[in-house]
Amino acid sequence: MSRALTLLLSAAISIAVLPSAKAAPSGAELFTRKGCIGCHVLKGHEGAVGTMGPDLSKIGATRDRAFLLAWIRDPQAMAPGSRMPTLGLTQVEAELLADYLLSERPRKGKRR
Ligand code: HEC
Repeated sequence: MSRALTLLLSAAISIAVLPSAKAAPSGAELFTRKGCIGCHVLKGHEGAVGTMGPDLSKIGATRDRAFLLAWIRDPQAMAPGSRMPTLGLTQVEAELLADYLLSERPRKGKRR
């Protein structure tokens, strides 16, 4: 097999594998796993009762996706000395988290 063909094949294989790798954790899972719940309240998210940071239940009312992406990836770059640590998340993880924060989550009860 020629070298070029081998390269092409391995590229095709990694593209074929991508979707399953991407489907791994959801934004909701990341919100728990990455420790966000320890510092933030998020209504409808089990265990999200931290109070060091602001309540994120209605973050979509004040922040847009671009802000959330930049903030979640590197809060220290945006607000040096912030009590929120830069957690070393990937761009994909930050996107999943931002989309999750902006999504309609199941709410318990009718309270706002
Ligand atoms: C150690 C506690 C801590 C952890 C862990 C933490 N945060 Fe924060 N977060 C904060 C604090 C404190 C602020 C307020 C920042 C400030 O005022 O400097 C904040 C601010 C934010 C904001 C911006 C709110 C606004 O409108 O300014 C978002 C969005 C956010 N956090 C999301 C997350 C996500 C998503 C995670 C998990 C990946 C996370 N945080 C993990 C403490 C934390």
